[in-house]
Amino acid sequence: MGKSKAGSEGTVRLERRGAIAWVTIANPPVNALSQAVRAGLAACVEAAIADPDVSLVAIRGDGRNFVAGGDISEFDAPLQPPDMNDVLATIEGSEKPVIACMHGNALGGGLELALACHFRIATPDTRLGLPEVTLGLIPGAGGTRRLPRVVGAEAALRMILDAAPIAAAKAFDIGLIDAVAVDGHEPVCERLAATIDKTTLAERRVGTRALTEVQQAQVAAAIAQARQSVRERWPWSGARRAAIDAVERGLDGSLADALVQERANFDACRVSGEGRALMHMFFAERAATRLPDGDATTQGLSIGTVGVVGAGTMGRGIALAIAGAGVPVQVFESDTGRRDAAHVAIADHFKGQTERGRMNPDAAQAVMSRIVFVDTIAGLASSDLVIEAAFESLPVKLEIFAALDAVVGPDTILATNTSTLDVDAIARATCRPDRVLGLHFFSPANVMRLLEIIRAPGTGAATLRAAAEFARRIGKTGVIVGNAFGFVANRMIFEYQRQGEFLVEEGATPDAVDRALVGFGMPMGPFAMADMAGLDVAWWLRKEVPAMRRADRRQSRLADLLCERGWFGQKTGQGWFRYEPGGRKALPSPETDAVVAAERIRIGIKPRAIAEQEILDRCLFALVNEAARILEAGLAARPGDIDVIYVHGFGFPRWRGGPLKWADDVGVGHVHDVLRDWAARGEAWLEPAPLLARMAREGVGFAQLERKGWIGS
Ligand code: COA
Repeated sequence: MGKSKAGSEGTVRLERRGAIAWVTIANPPVNALSQAVRAGLAACVEAAIADPDVSLVAIRGDGRNFVAGGDISEFDAPLQPPDMNDVLATIEGSEKPVIACMHGNALGGGLELALACHFRIATPDTRLGLPEVTLGLIPGAGGTRRLPRVVGAEAALRMILDAAPIAAAKAFDIGLIDAVAVDGHEPVCERLAATIDKTTLAERRVGTRALTEVQQAQVAAAIAQARQSVRERWPWSGARRAAIDAVERGLDGSLADALVQERANFDACRVSGEGRALMHMFFAERAATRLPDGDATTQGLSIGTVGVVGAGTMGRGIALAIAGAGVPVQVFESDTGRRDAAHVAIADHFKGQTERGRMNPDAAQAVMSRIVFVDTIAGLASSDLVIEAAFESLPVKLEIFAALDAVVGPDTILATNTSTLDVDAIARATCRPDRVLGLHFFSPANVMRLLEIIRAPGTGAATLRAAAEFARRIGKTGVIVGNAFGFVANRMIFEYQRQGEFLVEEGATPDAVDRALVGFGMPMGPFAMADMAGLDVAWWLRKEVPAMRRADRRQSRLADLLCERGWFGQKTGQGWFRYEPGGRKALPSPETDAVVAAERIRIGIKPRAIAEQEILDRCLFALVNEAARILEAGLAARPGDIDVIYVHGFGFPRWRGGPLKWADDVGVGHVHDVLRDWAARGEAWLEPAPLLARMAREGVGFAQLERKGWIGS
């Protein structure tokens, strides 16, 4: 055993074993390349190179990952020395071979570190990638220069633009790594230390290497193809355009020039709206399921088997989502007709998946076999979590919860998938209110990533923690929200759709409203979305739930008029739009236009031309305004939670960072003033929320609310 030396702040360790110096990056949880790690790495590598007894320097990561990239939390300010490029220059220029020993995640700066090493090996579990564009950034430590020299411009651009990590086996196939270390790193390093021919080191310095003739011949087509795919798939992505520019610039010329250009592009991206929005989303997603301080140490309950009550569309989707994540599911459905239909629908789902090549038949069979139907509610007795997805009626749910309470174990968590009912009232039907909460899936539940985790007043911290962990396990983005009508997602969408309907009453067409919002970046407009969800659902709510209507406020009858004619949207071929039989394309509907025109006459509105800006202001500022009320009422813990809900639940453009990050960019003062002006013209629904008014008055944005202590406990 050799000596051991800690890097600055103890984040990088140096140990010599025989002729090999092991440099271990230890910065949990993902070994991000923080300033301290860069300094430690430089110190340890320099010490290893200077040690006359060392013939090979091996760099590896401690814990579950090699290195998951630069430290994103440092990217809100200029990077502090040492510069990663200087550290990499020391490594690449070393007269002793340096080998990157990867495992787990080798992403972003982690892969760039490996590219500067002379050899690269990875255990079979390794994921290698340059995901920077998903954060609105580009590789900033030589990745755009070195990767094309190792795998060719086409493969490099694909990795950078798609941002999807590749497995070690694929990395070996494309020449990114020298070996897959099936027996771990040590044997490969020992072999290399004994056999390395130092004269080959120069060829292994990728940064200064010329492109091969074959690589050179592919360059022009690869760049053109990359630009074309960005135009088609990511027209909003300045980061991807900047990455292509950096790759192109780095293909010839000196390493130094390429690194200067790459860094300039990186810095421009780092401060761009897109970069700030996407980095905000990265942290907001991770913060969303974090419990308030004090709850954090609570032990989670372990969830092995899940029960689902109800095999309608929602129950089936939930069962598919859970079984797809490897968790066994038992489904109870009292209606035999619905149970049979569910069997057929689930079988059809897997048939479709295999026919379209999305799943192989064995995998489909394995998932299907995890879904078991039981005949009685007592059949769910062994579940650790039961999710009720029955008919949306309080008496029905109360009965189910009382029955479940009597048959399941004392620690079993009971969840309701209600979207409108009071979770507290449901919890009180049981003797275990601390083990009851809401789990609000979005339809189709096996596809949509958002999961609202509803905390009722009596919900225990351990229950919430277990639910948050479960959400993560089944691949959902869980967000903890409070128990109030509509929770967070639907509460906001009601205001957004309400303004859309008023705009149509005043003269816009549903198509014009939808086009404006699609132009903004939404995947579909409010009317196409309502038609897809089915207009009858909201109609039922308007009739049943008093909170949906206010006698003292303007109310549009348009949606009711469509429903009264049996026009429920896509499924009936007619709604806000018209649909060809079996089709999903929203076509303008003269019949709906006629209903709208007659209603305008009835209520005395003379249609006017409505500008796109007005459509965006009214629909989107209504969302922001309702979010302020939600924060004020403590229904969401952080503005970022609301951004996560809108990006994952409704496709709000991620690159704008969600509605509240976007509102900060537009200026809360401006949002407030526009709303205030509309309210002054009689639009009471647009009256600015008290919190928004205070923020505007004091010049505070949503990003500062937590720090100011204006929200949360
Ligand atoms: N910089 C700073 N913090 C990072 C980080 C990075 N590059 N990557 C992850 N983290 C933090 C997360 O914020 C999280 O912190 P928290 O526990 O305080 O919320 C923690 O590390 C764990 O990350 P998480 O994503 O929850 O873990 P995971 O095991 O699900 O996923 C990764 C691990 C590496 C796949 C994922 O974190 C990831 O994709 N990271 C970013 C990779 C990247 O884009 N690199 C390029 C940066 S320019």
